[in-house]
Amino acid sequence: MCGIVGYLGNKKAIPVIMQGLKSLEYRGYDSAGIAYIKNDKVNIIKKAGKIKNLDNVLNYKEDTYLGIAHTRWATHGKANDINAHPHKYGKITIVHNGIIENYDNLKKELIKKGKTFISETDTEVVACLLDEIYEKNKNMLEAINLLAKRLNGSYALNIICSDEPHTLYAVRKDSPLIVGNGNQEYILASDIPALLHVTNKYFLLDNYDIVKIDNNGLKFYDENLKQIKKQEKVYTGDLEVSSKKGYDHFMLKEINEQPELIKKLFRKYAIGDKFSNVFDISKYKSIEIVACGSAYHAGLIGKYYIEHLANIKTTVTYASEYRYQKNFFDKDSLVIIISQSGETADSLAALKLAKKNKIDTLAIVNVFESSIAREAKYVFYTEAGIEVAVATTKAYLAQILVLLMLAANTLKDQSEVINSLKLLPNLLSQYINNYDYKKIAKKLVNYEHIFYLGRGLDFSLAMEGSLKLKEISYIHSEAYPAGELKHGTISLIDKNTGIIAIVIDKTIKEKTISNIKEVASRGAKILAITNDEKNEFSDTKILLEDYNDILNPLVTIISMQLLAYHIAKLKKCDIDKPRNLAKSVTVE
Ligand code: G6P
Repeated sequence: MCGIVGYLGNKKAIPVIMQGLKSLEYRGYDSAGIAYIKNDKVNIIKKAGKIKNLDNVLNYKEDTYLGIAHTRWATHGKANDINAHPHKYGKITIVHNGIIENYDNLKKELIKKGKTFISETDTEVVACLLDEIYEKNKNMLEAINLLAKRLNGSYALNIICSDEPHTLYAVRKDSPLIVGNGNQEYILASDIPALLHVTNKYFLLDNYDIVKIDNNGLKFYDENLKQIKKQEKVYTGDLEVSSKKGYDHFMLKEINEQPELIKKLFRKYAIGDKFSNVFDISKYKSIEIVACGSAYHAGLIGKYYIEHLANIKTTVTYASEYRYQKNFFDKDSLVIIISQSGETADSLAALKLAKKNKIDTLAIVNVFESSIAREAKYVFYTEAGIEVAVATTKAYLAQILVLLMLAANTLKDQSEVINSLKLLPNLLSQYINNYDYKKIAKKLVNYEHIFYLGRGLDFSLAMEGSLKLKEISYIHSEAYPAGELKHGTISLIDKNTGIIAIVIDKTIKEKTISNIKEVASRGAKILAITNDEKNEFSDTKILLEDYNDILNPLVTIISMQLLAYHIAKLKKCDIDKPRNLAKSVTVE
């Protein structure tokens, strides 16, 4: 959600900045803009819609070596040219990621002083306020520091002051911003993919750190404006994160990366017939998993593993609900926050709430040293590598794997889980390669409504299957507990309703099948994803082998991901960047 790039260096800035900005497209956005210095003057160009609209009007050969750019995911005000960033007020030009919670009061205060605004954004208010402070003291470092004290909420800001056209400033609080340190060139960015074309060396910023970059180099200041040293990090992962490596979409590439990912986690955490270096959950009387979106769905599968293998009562709550519900904060409980990005605003707030109430917290996170990873007491990285497609696949599977390892680690005899996981990479490859998902997708692509039905564990799987389908294909889809249908929802079922029945969970299989038959008798055609060989309840099926309770859900996931992918592909949807969605949801 919103991407930021800032550059100062010895190369022409526009191509460098735009390459960075394009590699942040996955975060989700609906307008883009750039400000650059030419002949010591600020030039601003911004356009609603895709980055290509901006690209079309840019001159890549422009003689400029300093600039800031932004992809905006609209929050305050429509996605149009005026609301797009950068925003300039007086001598200050900024791009901003985050939400300023007190912007309305600040705006009223500034209007009383005679200031006027042309956009509906909170960001223009920030630019105006900073300009006002700067005009009083004419010292940018002090002005940024004073600004930070006036703002509530979250922000990552890249700032240019017209009086200092060769200097780039930045500050952050609770929104991601990193500083790439190249050879006499510096790049500010929301995430690592945006700086790899310049350097793999970077610095992380703490809240309220201020960055100043000019011809003398890069300097960091803390909130007391004391110059500080930061530790340089080196990104050693895949340098080609922005390449689809021959796949049509990042989503398909990432689905295909799952077998290798499992091997990687296995190599790291399984030694002989035991897990090693896995966080010990056995001392906790209960576990509360808190997450959003697919991470919440991973939590539901995790609950199944933790309750069945570790025998620890587990609840799963949406982070957006956890923050505002009544919580009991039992000191013997562990709160597990799951997040791919490690930046999801609701998950981060839930984590802070649990911490404030002195509950142990464990973050299961994909992005290294993200806000959630840094804030939690303990952290367990999912190591799925950078995920570019907005719809998560490999990170979701890795979250489940980590939860399974946490559960299995409590067992005396861990050999069944270990032996199962040894088989998993090959099984997943088999299900990726040996099925004609496209053929099945053709049967479903014309439905306007598709229900995913299941009970028990199958319902948890259905929730993710349905989310995958709706987010990338825009087909209305709901996951429904099959046993609940007759209490209202079955009234929606007729021959025009698509039904995907998940029938894997043997403990409740017979009951689920009865419910599916009720639906079939209302005229609906049934696609079953099942390991029930007899399978007399469906018109079409994806038949999975029946392995065991550990493997069965994991192979089901792959089939659901590929089915959603092929339906969206047939519909010619923008699979990697679905409309209105953002990969990293940094607003509440
Ligand atoms: C967004 C993404 C989802 C993701 C959810 C939670 O909605 O599009 O794929 O599951 O946020 O994100 P997180 O980074 O916390 O896992």
